Amino acid sequence: MQLASSPETSATSAPYPFDIRRISDVAGAEIFGVDLKQPVSDTLKDAIMRAFLEFHVLVFRGQDLTKDEQHQFSLNFGTLEHHVGRLADGTPFPIVHTVTNLDADGNPTEKTVAKGNYHWHTDKSYHAIPSLMSMLHAKEIPPKGGDTQFANTRMGYASLSPAMKERIADMQVEHSWEASRRNVGAPPPSEEQKRERPPVTHPLVRTHPDTGDKTIYLGHHVSHIVGLPKDESDALLEELTEHTTQPKFTYTHQWRQGDYTMWDNRCLLHRARPNYEVGRDRRLLHRTVIIGTKPY
Ligand code: OGA
Ligand code: MN
Repeated sequence: MQLASSPETSATSAPYPFDIRRISDVAGAEIFGVDLKQPVSDTLKDAIMRAFLEFHVLVFRGQDLTKDEQHQFSLNFGTLEHHVGRLADGTPFPIVHTVTNLDADGNPTEKTVAKGNYHWHTDKSYHAIPSLMSMLHAKEIPPKGGDTQFANTRMGYASLSPAMKERIADMQVEHSWEASRRNVGAPPPSEEQKRERPPVTHPLVRTHPDTGDKTIYLGHHVSHIVGLPKDESDALLEELTEHTTQPKFTYTHQWRQGDYTMWDNRCLLHRARPNYEVGRDRRLLHRTVIIGTKPY
């Protein structure tokens, strides 16, 4: 590990015990010289969490973890979440699962189940206790494209007009796995999946539990704003999504094989970009998700 103080480190906080460089003003820092296969000391863990809160998206370059090693590393940051999604044979995704455009035979397909990810969302907002952090480890990346975009919902909220802030201040939003499937044109969930993941309600304006920042909390798992007529709800959700995903609030991550990313689902929306030859080039990442706290 390299000991380097970062230009990003303010005079009042301790320097990071790794080489870190901001990638974008919106979200994102890349970190070099840390091997995530190795046990994580408390000092390193604290520094990673500090950087995570400062930059929202961390990218550790040049990693090579097995699924078991990713599982072990992920446990440093909390409890791992189970997944409602099913594999082709009907069994639930394993706790460390694969996000890919490959079919069951290992061939690229346009019909990838990962298509739902093309729409802006925050992970597992259809849970009563949604996720804090998601981690993706890039194993196979197309020669060009296959990016992931992140939108900063703190900046999105902060730049709303005072009138809009007042209008949405107390709104509650229903999120569900069923609405999520409908919104992305995927087949409806089974009765079992519906029982497993009943609809939940969260505030539209969330307070980040670690920073106190207010953020807009929506995305494609949303069904509607509680108590509004459907067209008004749809129009407002669309307006807010458009607002917070303007290019000036987004960072587009161009993957390198070996990247290990961690992002904060409490202050970001994200989506996969189909900007590669989905039916021809291979894209495969390993994913873990850490459970968060009840939004307020
Ligand atoms: C996810 C996700 C986006 C991508 O893993 O939660 O949305 O680019 N992935 O694969
Ligand atoms: Mn996601």
